[in-house]
Amino acid sequence: MNTLETLKSTDLDVSAIRRDFPGLHQSVHGKPLVYLDNAATTQKPTAVIEALDRFYRTDCSNVHRGVHELSERATKAFEDARVVVKHFINASREREIVFVRGTTEAINLVASSYARSRMKAGDEILISALEHHSNIVPWQLLSEQIGTRLVVAPISDSGELVLEEFERLLGPKTALVSMAHVSNALGTVMPVREIVRLAHTRGVPVLIDGAQAAPHLAVDVRELDCDFYAFSGHKVFGPTGIGVLWGRADLLERMPPYQGGGDMIRSVTFEKTTYNDLPYKFEAGTPHIAGAIGLGAALDYVSQLGIDRVTAYERELLAYGTELLRAIPGLRLIGTASEKSAVLSFVLDGIHPHDAGTVLDRSGIAVRTGHHCAQPVMARFDIPATTRASLAFYNTKEEIDALASGIRRVQELFR
Ligand code: ALA
Repeated sequence: MNTLETLKSTDLDVSAIRRDFPGLHQSVHGKPLVYLDNAATTQKPTAVIEALDRFYRTDCSNVHRGVHELSERATKAFEDARVVVKHFINASREREIVFVRGTTEAINLVASSYARSRMKAGDEILISALEHHSNIVPWQLLSEQIGTRLVVAPISDSGELVLEEFERLLGPKTALVSMAHVSNALGTVMPVREIVRLAHTRGVPVLIDGAQAAPHLAVDVRELDCDFYAFSGHKVFGPTGIGVLWGRADLLERMPPYQGGGDMIRSVTFEKTTYNDLPYKFEAGTPHIAGAIGLGAALDYVSQLGIDRVTAYERELLAYGTELLRAIPGLRLIGTASEKSAVLSFVLDGIHPHDAGTVLDRSGIAVRTGHHCAQPVMARFDIPATTRASLAFYNTKEEIDALASGIRRVQELFR
């Protein structure tokens, strides 16, 4: 029996956890907030808010540049955050942790630096049909620039990768596989270890978009054996505008800088510039110092809860929500993979998701409606949009009950 199976939802003290999140304790339209839009962004614990406050109140300074006390404090806090990230994803070296704006920038960095410098016309980037736009458009831009080709592995009616098709599409021209760890629109947990194994058998490197995985599942980049891993701070209870690209040092070493500017250089003359060591070669300009520090505080918070406990609790919550929503006539769940994480996406007969979302909001229930920056997923299911409730460890069964009652009210209103 693995650790997850021995853990129970009761191992997480959700009432105590909720007290750590000031944003959860408010009324919206006169009703207690039920925040179920965690795949878009998460609420922040006091520990994160205080880390940001402390930086701006007492340690505010630039990093890697000053000899004065404030700069030393800021630099230490910033670099300590990198160490926290390293542990969180079980990377082996701090220099493999590049601070970026978020998952989107991380993927663009790999496209602009790694792919653009190594690939040629006709090379293929293999993605899946459930990707977020941020794992589609950078590869299309690359195709326009150097003539690479985007190849898309299909997904089944339940929203699972068709692994045999993926394997068939992995061909002699595949130069990179780039896949979500967890689908933002459907919640599917992708078979990433198998994806990496199959790609590596053919010598193809793999980038994993972990934006929707890092808040819910243990991420171990060494165990996954991937080549790049990207995630965003704001989806894992940290600040917006900060994220991480982890890359294997040998790959990062050989990649050209992504942007030029301060801090990414060793020396500059008008004739020639030499570049800084990893990870600074990829961190041009003043970074989001407070953001990195806040991210460190967020990951510390999640680690203290225990990510396996979080996963176990959220599994129960998702199973509870799935059962409840399935029992509502006229509701169809979109995304019914056997391995899912934290997402309940659905459509209601004859009711547009935006109408449903607006009525739910009037009951204090925050969900996202629309295409979720995954238009090809909507096209795959032949729908324009869904209503998406997305969970975090601070959500409760009572909140799922409120969602189900809210949906029934929507149906009555539009009957
Ligand atoms: N990518 C985020 C979402 O799925 C914004 O909602």
